[in-house]
Amino acid sequence: MKLIISQNPGLTAAEILKTRLQENKKKTFVLALPTGGTPVEMYKNIVRMHKNKKIDFSNVLTFNLDEYAGVDKCCPQAYCSFMEENLFGQIDIKRENINIPNGMAKDLNAECAAYEDKIKKAGGIDLFFGGVGENGHIAFNEPGSPVDSLTRVVDLTEDTINVNSRFFSCAADVPKQALTMGVKTILSSREIIILATGKKKAEALKAAFEGPSTSEWIISLLQKHQNTTVIADADAASLLKTKPGNI
Ligand code: PGA
Repeated sequence: MKLIISQNPGLTAAEILKTRLQENKKKTFVLALPTGGTPVEMYKNIVRMHKNKKIDFSNVLTFNLDEYAGVDKCCPQAYCSFMEENLFGQIDIKRENINIPNGMAKDLNAECAAYEDKIKKAGGIDLFFGGVGENGHIAFNEPGSPVDSLTRVVDLTEDTINVNSRFFSCAADVPKQALTMGVKTILSSREIIILATGKKKAEALKAAFEGPSTSEWIISLLQKHQNTTVIADADAASLLKTKPGNI
């Protein structure tokens, strides 16, 4: 795993994406995208680059990492709404190239299986962007998620419900379940970039770089992946003895 410490992780991430899209020789570039507070800055930079014609989404296919179960896509808290507001409504992506799990599907298990299949049929994920939870989760793979898990329905932990209650009127309104890419789905990506900002993520990064690879800290399972970079600000990296660079 490589560590980059950046004063502006969102800008660093957007620049990496710009380079990867410029380097891409394939017909379609498959990109996995997160929601949450951390990637907002990355999306602002991508939109700015798009306005300056430095980044082109015409051959990009996206898969969002997760979505709440039972939340209509038009609801402001739905990740679908988040993506529309922060990215998709402001760039030249083809509507048919956007994929977000449908949290209102009648059969959520079938929806997850179809989502996994669609990623496979697209040739797998070229570049996976993710944030990390305070408990080390990636997407909604909560502690204890199996390393061979695929896209599936999961129960959210009490911790995650409390952390995410800031986007709802109260914790009781936060959905208790979500649809999420699995750990195996993520580890199958050709490149993984995790963004982490703020002191609240410092313990998760300590576990990622300096602890054992264990499903108690899902982020530490990325030690098994050959092409993973964590872009952190100084606060998120504050507990690390690890120096930036390849380890
Ligand atoms: P955050 O969430 O970016 O809002 O901190 C990250 C996550 O839970 O994956």
